[in-house]
Amino acid sequence: MKQHLSIIIIGASGDLATKKIFPALFALYCRKLLPEPFSCCGFARTAMDVDTFREMLKRHLTCRYVPDEEECPALMDKFLARCFYVTGQYDLHEDYKRLADILDKNEKDGLSVTRIFYYSIPPFLFIPVSHSLKQAGLTTDIADKRLNRAVIEKPFGRNRASSDRLTRELATVFSEAQTYRIDHYLGKEVIQNLMALRFANLVLEPLWNRVNIAHVQITWMEDIGVEGRAGYFDAYGIIRDVMQNHLLQMLALTAMSEPLSLNPEYVRDEKVKVLRSVAPVTLNDIVVGQYTGAEYKGEKRRGYLEEDGVPPDSITPTYAAAALKIRNRRWDGIPFLIRAGKGLNDRKTEIRVVFRDVPANIFGAVSTPPDANELVIRVQPDAGISLSLMNKKPGLPMSLHKTDLNLSYADVFPEEIPDAYESLILDVINGDKSLFIRADELAAAWDVFTPVLSELESCTIRPQEYPFGSEGPRSAVALAALYNTHWR
Ligand code: BG6
Repeated sequence: MKQHLSIIIIGASGDLATKKIFPALFALYCRKLLPEPFSCCGFARTAMDVDTFREMLKRHLTCRYVPDEEECPALMDKFLARCFYVTGQYDLHEDYKRLADILDKNEKDGLSVTRIFYYSIPPFLFIPVSHSLKQAGLTTDIADKRLNRAVIEKPFGRNRASSDRLTRELATVFSEAQTYRIDHYLGKEVIQNLMALRFANLVLEPLWNRVNIAHVQITWMEDIGVEGRAGYFDAYGIIRDVMQNHLLQMLALTAMSEPLSLNPEYVRDEKVKVLRSVAPVTLNDIVVGQYTGAEYKGEKRRGYLEEDGVPPDSITPTYAAAALKIRNRRWDGIPFLIRAGKGLNDRKTEIRVVFRDVPANIFGAVSTPPDANELVIRVQPDAGISLSLMNKKPGLPMSLHKTDLNLSYADVFPEEIPDAYESLILDVINGDKSLFIRADELAAAWDVFTPVLSELESCTIRPQEYPFGSEGPRSAVALAALYNTHWR
């Protein structure tokens, strides 16, 4: 049955909307993946007419999927002709009535409609916006006529209690089935591949446990600072900004057991199970840091406390490293060492599975002992997977040499890799929830970090300083050493 699709972006003049959401919608349009008919409507406080809005959107659209460059301007114009804009206050339901009028006008008579409300707004607006949408009569499903979905971006609360409150409040407007909580890392190609890598290959599963694996490292590093987002960042910090969500999701997909099938509920059941087995982090298991001013790549970089909008006595961590323990049969005793930081000396995200040493080294007399094998899943920047193996170094003597089997996405997959938002928005349109965070999963993830966040903040623990462009605070090295290893 033909249906109309209406996508409503609340906060349409902001960075996320203009740089990620609209370009992703346009990419789907170019690939003919948006259902017909469809229309988009932006809503935000900034006063502007629809032409100015379209001009603003156009600056960020690219034709990556259009082979013939000459077709591009016409395609952009066709897409933009479906985009509308309403200026309004987020908490005034009268303003949403004007939005409702535009939606009604755009949606073709007689067709049923799916409306997707995308919250591209700061978290403190989630509740007022939801209530105003409800008061304006926009959130009620009408059987066979109108279905509504809401897409919500992290951070979902600041700890377990505030996250539960948010979940409860939102549930009075959109049911759990209608709610899509986005963690954009789950839309990244290499992260989606984790399930295929682990469960579509026979060789890994027998090794994937405490018997063969010594530890797992999950690294997330950026060599930039807070880049104009100090207001948001200072209120949240690196643990809430990336660890509780992006890193825990990577951990869950690495550590979970095989789901019964790809049914979204079964996948999320397994993630919840493993997240519930993670012991809450304690102060002994974590190190926090904050970058200070330094010269990096020939440029003077400001310290976190000098960034505009950061209070001079802020104790917000820009770096954290933690040792997580999973209390189940597969992983008992195996540390998952995770670290995340801004203002470091590299930009990379990866999962590194470090296997145990080979027992009874028979090469001892002729060579240095074999290094442990490592499987590295490189999420970015150079997406790929590599497995280090020991081999005989060519030559007369028997000596061992560590080499990598390397699968580089750029070499093996010539096709354009979709942006995470393209993949996730298409899933919302298709009603597929596998890559979205379920309420119980969110609660389990908060349980891992809530106690330690509360201790760090109530005891006013000052993060250890590290210079911008370094490897992070020295105490992170000591944390890894506690587990007889070092960060790779
Ligand atoms: C966001 C964080 O979720 O992810 C940012 O709020 C971070 O602090 C960003 O910079 C990184 O995303 P990506 O896709 O560039 O790795």
